[in-house]
Amino acid sequence: MIYITRRERFNAAHKLFREEWSDEKNLETFGKCSNPNWHGHNYELFVTVKGTVNPETGFVIDLKELKNIIRTQVTDALDHKNINLDVNFMKGKMASTEVLAVAIFDQLKTHVEEQGAKLHSIKLYETENNFVEYLGE
Ligand code: NI
Repeated sequence: MIYITRRERFNAAHKLFREEWSDEKNLETFGKCSNPNWHGHNYELFVTVKGTVNPETGFVIDLKELKNIIRTQVTDALDHKNINLDVNFMKGKMASTEVLAVAIFDQLKTHVEEQGAKLHSIKLYETENNFVEYLGE
């Protein structure tokens, strides 16, 4: 089994809040990410695919195809957008890095499998110090 990783980046706005909570409780729970007038992050996404090497191509997956899948299924929808308001696959969800990583995994899984490989993990950096890793379970 070989693992190969593609990195993509996107910039997006969000806020973490619960409508039914007071501003004080939102601030206490979510800190600066609860700012009512939104704020942005420069996200860094690492998509790791696993499989066996195709003897004809030497590839686990064609990285051009993987790049296209990530862009059409994930980053085109997120880049320069508001995660809470603009992104169909995040509608009604908390715009946390954890929830976003799971949603991204679900967006990519079947498309990667159509290329004859398996989606191993998603790593999503919200800041250079904080990232989430999701392996599909
Ligand atoms: Ni934030």
